[in-house]
Amino acid sequence: MARYSEVQAALRDNQTYVSGRGVGLADFSRETPFRPPSLLLETDPPLHDRTRGLMNRIVTLGALRAVAPRWQAIADAMVEQLLDRGRFDAVSELGTAFPLAVFPDLIGLQDEGREQLIPYAAGVFNAFGPRNALFERSQIAAREASVWVAAACKRENLKPDGWGMQVYAAADRGDCSEEEAERLVRSFLSAGVDTTVNGIGNLLHAFALHPDQWQRLHAQPNLPPRAFEEGLRWIRLAVQTFFRTTSRSVETPEGTIPEGSKVALFLAAANRDPRRWENPERFDIGRRASGHVGFGFGIHQCLGQMVARQEVECLLRAMLPRVSAIRLTGTPERGLNNTLHSLATLPVEFEAVKAEVRQ
Ligand code: HEM
Repeated sequence: MARYSEVQAALRDNQTYVSGRGVGLADFSRETPFRPPSLLLETDPPLHDRTRGLMNRIVTLGALRAVAPRWQAIADAMVEQLLDRGRFDAVSELGTAFPLAVFPDLIGLQDEGREQLIPYAAGVFNAFGPRNALFERSQIAAREASVWVAAACKRENLKPDGWGMQVYAAADRGDCSEEEAERLVRSFLSAGVDTTVNGIGNLLHAFALHPDQWQRLHAQPNLPPRAFEEGLRWIRLAVQTFFRTTSRSVETPEGTIPEGSKVALFLAAANRDPRRWENPERFDIGRRASGHVGFGFGIHQCLGQMVARQEVECLLRAMLPRVSAIRLTGTPERGLNNTLHSLATLPVEFEAVKAEVRQ
């Protein structure tokens, strides 16, 4: 399904289009999942109601506001440094560096080895696709990272003040078991890094391709939140597809979908469906892009969307007073992934806002 109305309707009807049989191509009722399934992404109610309710009490706006000043200071310093440097790779030096500088602390991860989150997440997102060579290669590449992540999610390896330990506090209250807590912490690490890494890289790419929109952002400093939503809609900022499995046979105008079918939901295509969006191919940061399915829709809608929004807003607020233009200095390379719209490199330079304007 690729039309907006169909994708959104399938995401809404979670009893017919279930997630518990896997949100990738594999049907967990026939194939062994490549890892113990996620207790959020790959479950259905009633279990999902319990785990999501527990996590919603941890992932709050209040908790994010508390860390916002620190994130802003980190973003400001990073952008200053990159301006001094001149040319740089925006994927590794900003898109990856910034989330890695803020997100692991939010969860309370140990300091050593945090870079393992990147190959780990690439492996997870490749696994939602076919068992192709990309999948095989990334599983081999992620072997060490998966061991690191499994250890990082354990109670004894988490710092006391992060969201990870709050999941264990929920276990102590009896809201979930110790084993469930470990797997819920893993959800933060599977879903919370590569998504924002690619989201930021692709958003910067969008602005490099549309200098007029970057100028517009300068003229209207209230636009960063809208710019991100439009970026999610327009440039397929991160996730391209997720699957569902039909729990019963479904009649559609095009024919019958039998029970037990895997259905690919093309989120990225839905976000550019001309039946839903006017001039869908235009990147227009003034557009009201709310309603896009870049974060999904319905009960599985992204748990970490506030985290992603805050990361991007901090970066844009660091860049706006300092960067007058984002220029490509080479051809960006796509990073292949079975699920994510990924960039491997984005060679750019930032042009500095003139000193007299900055004061
Ligand atoms: C630009 C960044 C992000 C994008 C584009 C994105 C996209 C998505 C999408 C499309 C879904 C729905 C999956 C489905 O319906 O099957 C989802 C779910 C989820 N996301 Fe995100 N995500 C992002 C960032 C994050 C972050 C930072 C976190 C962690 C803090 C996170 C954690 C999750 C979790 C745990 C779920 C599963 C929720 C559930 O099933 O109830 N995501 N995300």
